[in-house]
Amino acid sequence: MSARGLWITIEGGDGSGKTTQSALLMEWLQTLGRTIVHTREPGGSEVGELIRNIVLHHRGHIAPRAEALLYAADRAHHVATVVRPALERGDIVLQDRYLDSSVAYQGAGRVLDAGEVRDLSLWAAEGALPDVTVLLDIDPVIARQRLDAADKPFDRLEAEKLEFHTRVRDAYLALAAAEPERFIVVDAQQSVDKIADQIRTRVQRAINAE
Ligand code: TYD
Repeated sequence: MSARGLWITIEGGDGSGKTTQSALLMEWLQTLGRTIVHTREPGGSEVGELIRNIVLHHRGHIAPRAEALLYAADRAHHVATVVRPALERGDIVLQDRYLDSSVAYQGAGRVLDAGEVRDLSLWAAEGALPDVTVLLDIDPVIARQRLDAADKPFDRLEAEKLEFHTRVRDAYLALAAAEPERFIVVDAQQSVDKIADQIRTRVQRAINAE
């Protein structure tokens, strides 16, 4: 969608190393002499942080359609007030999670139809899609071991069962297979440096093509 800038999103299951790779990519992008906007969903705007607090930290049940709408509301506001203006200025937007997260996670709950979840997000974001989406792919069993080793308290979604995370992974891989031009799938069990290198190569190609 980018009129002038470049929009990169990073996706992956919990424990896939998304935070580490996003920070490393950010460091590298900053050496390019461009303005970089590092943002995330849910969150990334003041309204978004309020919504993030509800979806990730509310104790107790949120009806699946309400949850999908909360993520979509966050997305609508974020794209309209942060992402789109940055791209119009010609900036590079590096974003942790976008609509593929909704399709993979809310779709994996088995209650909602993945296609409907995607359509909802596309409506919210007026059809905006990233130039490049990095998918950090990892076996949920390994991811779980990493999270256990980190010994951090789990948020609502991380505490979901392994079976759920397997469905999330499968959904992500199906999304990537359907849009090979947009996605790069990286094996997240490789070393941190190797992963970072593969991501940089793909992003450099996108920058060259701008
Ligand atoms: P995130 O802040 O990226 O945490 P982590 O670093 O642990 O991955 O994401 C928080 C959770 O939000 C994550 O478990 C996935 C979930 N999520 C959805 O279910 N749907 C969405 O549309 C988005 C953006 C996130």
